[in-house]
Amino acid sequence: MDRKISPADSLSGVVRLPGDKSISHRYAMLASIAEGRSEIHNYSSGADCASTLACMRALGVPIEQRGDRVTVEGVGLDGLQRASKALDAGNSGSTIRMLSGILAGQPFATNIFGDESLTRRPMQRIMTPLAAMGAKIDARDGNYPPLVIHGGKLTPIDYVSPVASAQVKSAVLFAGLFAPGTTSVTEPVATRNHSEIALRELGADVRVDGLRVAIQGRPRMTGRRLDVASDISGAAFFLVAGLLLPGSDLTIEGVGLNPTRTALLDVLRSMGATIEILRSEARNGEIVGDLRVRSPASGAAIDGGVIAGDMTAGVIDEIPVLAVLGACSRQGLEIRDAAELRVKETDRIATVAENLGRMGVAVETFPDAMRIPGNQKLRAAELDSFGDHRIAMAFVVAALAADGPCTMRDAEAASVSFPEFYEVLEGLRG
Ligand code: S3P
Repeated sequence: MDRKISPADSLSGVVRLPGDKSISHRYAMLASIAEGRSEIHNYSSGADCASTLACMRALGVPIEQRGDRVTVEGVGLDGLQRASKALDAGNSGSTIRMLSGILAGQPFATNIFGDESLTRRPMQRIMTPLAAMGAKIDARDGNYPPLVIHGGKLTPIDYVSPVASAQVKSAVLFAGLFAPGTTSVTEPVATRNHSEIALRELGADVRVDGLRVAIQGRPRMTGRRLDVASDISGAAFFLVAGLLLPGSDLTIEGVGLNPTRTALLDVLRSMGATIEILRSEARNGEIVGDLRVRSPASGAAIDGGVIAGDMTAGVIDEIPVLAVLGACSRQGLEIRDAAELRVKETDRIATVAENLGRMGVAVETFPDAMRIPGNQKLRAAELDSFGDHRIAMAFVVAALAADGPCTMRDAEAASVSFPEFYEVLEGLRG
């Protein structure tokens, strides 16, 4: 579906976002293998998290959903059942990779596939550690979905991961639940730690020592009420829109502010943005708070900068929208050490560059980097999501600041993480 996006003068109001996608996946998977009932509140409305629920149901877990409230009747570590048909992970890399860790520990085989985009995403990164633990996994060309996961008795490993990926870390920790003894993962840089927090919240023994995370196998996990913080990666689109449109004033409520996710705020502040944290509290071991972004009527003075090293891993999902801000910044933005962007829902170096180019913005790309000079104007253009939710939303934000109406092709891709995105946005126009 094409969608016309008119420029906006400013955005103002209070924003409530869907539950965090990363946290929702983990709660659904772990509540399923805990004992007893969990009630998950503010569960993500995105299609990706619906894929996880469908997979868990297909594995025999009773799950009911009413709006954003999901009730999971946990079946315990040994209660999953062989699915009667192949599991469909849809567009969701988190579903296929993290669930593979759980499936590796089952006494049956499971087939799991996904959509066209997922079918191009690398799985070797989880296959290597899970095979070392004793699972046998078949993949197309040894690397791509569909996967056939022949689970079985697992043995603990100490895995040193070559990739900065919370999905890989989580797959190994989830498999470690089924292996008697201590399983550990050491990451090259710290990635989001929602799995560690959720596992602990449900009763597992997880220990963190620098970049090493260790889990004890065969824990007793029990269901409970779980409240999902709103998605900071969804907040990113509104924070950047608020900075790009002079006179904006947005308050974003109940956002997850886990320090492994707030590198975005550090980057925006280092570029000169004023973002206040109005209130924060702990919920289920996660930090949740309200954010306020304001830009003066004369426009926010946004400096450029360089995003590199650990910082890149910390903002990996927000880079598309940061690239848009970079084009309008004073010195421009350089993003380095970002080869992972090439294997997201789309090749995000290519799709960001393509859309910026259509808007008349100069950009240089490299195998693992991009350089966007500053002080550039965003021209009205026909934009394309290329089926990637974050590309859709990043360039709708760009369209708000363009010099005329833009079209977004395949605009509904946003619903993978944020089905209400357009409605929320329209409600904030000044
Ligand atoms: C996620 C981890 C990141 C991120 C993805 C969600 C997670 O992927 O890009 O959107 O929930 O663990 P990688 O683990 O591939 O870096």
